[in-house]
Amino acid sequence: MLFLKRTIALRISKRNGVLAGEDIVSAYDIMMESLEGIALADIDVVPLFFEKLYERYPAEKPNFLNPEHSHGAMANEMMTMLLALAQGEDWVPTMMRIQQFTHRSFGDIAIERYGQALETLVDTLGDAAGAHWQPAYEAVWRAQTARLFQIIKENSFAIDRSPSGAKPLER
Ligand code: HEM
Repeated sequence: MLFLKRTIALRISKRNGVLAGEDIVSAYDIMMESLEGIALADIDVVPLFFEKLYERYPAEKPNFLNPEHSHGAMANEMMTMLLALAQGEDWVPTMMRIQQFTHRSFGDIAIERYGQALETLVDTLGDAAGAHWQPAYEAVWRAQTARLFQIIKENSFAIDRSPSGAKPLER
């Protein structure tokens, strides 16, 4: 059954770049399945993700002043957003907007960096899963990162136009 769902989701994601309707649920199933191998191998993806992120974007590292807390919280929140989006949760844009607003006090983070960080996260999952990573996993995770980045761009436009839009703080 999961194989059938996966095939359908993969076809739809290839055709539209996004998943819609009932197939969103199967995208979530596939994403959860993709995490099982990583969990069973007892791999902590948090340090792997930040290692990759800092390697690609070293200028971001000094903004993480409290990494013992923020690394886990941020990786967890990014995964939660992507999984919730796949489940069709309607609170994702609002929660993401709150995060973006909060992030203005963490540094001058370019909007493109959000998309790049999401892609880095999925790259990390693929590396951690190794030979267990499948094209279907890749397709559904990338489809959700594209959807979330679109939401982030729309939020950014809305925040910039808001009279209460916060400016980045000096830290
Ligand atoms: C989907 C995208 C993202 C989500 C959901 C997210 C989520 C979070 C969360 C939950 C925290 C912890 C906040 C707290 O202290 O309670 C955090 C902190 C932070 N995030 Fe993100 N984040 C995202 C993208 C980014 C990007 C692209 C950057 C820049 C590379 C970034 C830089 C930071 C920094 C500098 C902190 C504070 C770190 C510290 O004080 O140690 N975030 N993020």
